[in-house]
Amino acid sequence: MKYFNDLADLNSDEILGLLELANSLDRHPEPKALNGKVLALLFFNPSLRTLTSFQAAMTRLGGGTFVVSPEMSIHGLETKMGIVMDGNAAEHIREAVPVIASYADAIGIRAFAEKKDLETDLQDVNYNNLIDLIDKPFINMESAINHPCQNLADWKTLDDFKIPAKNGKFVLSWAYHPNALPLAVPASTLHMASMRGMNVTVLRPEGFELPAKVMKKAKNAAVLSGGTITETSDRYEAMQDADVIYAKSWISARHYNDKQMESEARENLVDWRVKDSWFDNALPSCRFMHCLPVRRGVVVDDSVLDGLKSIVIHQARNRMLAQMAVLYQIMK
Ligand code: CP
Repeated sequence: MKYFNDLADLNSDEILGLLELANSLDRHPEPKALNGKVLALLFFNPSLRTLTSFQAAMTRLGGGTFVVSPEMSIHGLETKMGIVMDGNAAEHIREAVPVIASYADAIGIRAFAEKKDLETDLQDVNYNNLIDLIDKPFINMESAINHPCQNLADWKTLDDFKIPAKNGKFVLSWAYHPNALPLAVPASTLHMASMRGMNVTVLRPEGFELPAKVMKKAKNAAVLSGGTITETSDRYEAMQDADVIYAKSWISARHYNDKQMESEARENLVDWRVKDSWFDNALPSCRFMHCLPVRRGVVVDDSVLDGLKSIVIHQARNRMLAQMAVLYQIMK
């Protein structure tokens, strides 16, 4: 494996192989596997889990990391092409990214959606421009439309909690958030659950439909896996016999480049906060998942997050294990 960019680049057997490796490395540590290897971590956006889980994963495998982000060690980083650099930025990604990559055996890159133009973000244009600048193995640490490390960890979490792949009901639910959040997690989570063969329901208010391109990609995966995808704004119907609810807020694709309209579309939806009552007609074993960070009392009630249904900490720990498997396959 030379890159880890999108779960859709792998077939189910390859994903199951990675998950088996993650479990094996958890049970039987290999602290010298990546001795002397270096992973560069380039963050254009903030992180807690991705940063620390990659550092922990490399350390547990015997390798090392270095971290670069525009705030900490670059003299103002310009990302636009063909620009006259007479402003604040003194360094361009065309030099910075290959230089960083040249110090490492592989590079992880995080570059969120700009949320200015939907098609640009759906095509992951900015992330792909960065990838084009390197000649080393690379890992997507969340781009405009993908978060494969999260997806792999989430697949493992579903397995760990014995949530059925075939005929298991996965509810991907929009939740209120004061900010317009990117599509990367909902889009790639939908794909992951569809690829796993689950019956997926996208629960979202009117106006927060996922883009047609995202739905089409997931539907293609569901056809191959034997899963199904439905979409509704009816919470009772969505939660009926659910095995798992995965909450996430996301921007309205209808108002992608209009901040005012987007904000107005969201302002009356504060009640879309996951509460105990949402689970009334779900299976008694129904679990709550969220990729974190999560706003307590805004996205989800404390009673859900702190209750027995919540598996978010296990989910976050699985980031480290899933990434150990990816690093092992890419760098060993
Ligand atoms: N879930 C996730 O990617 O968390 P961070 O943004 O903290 O890395």
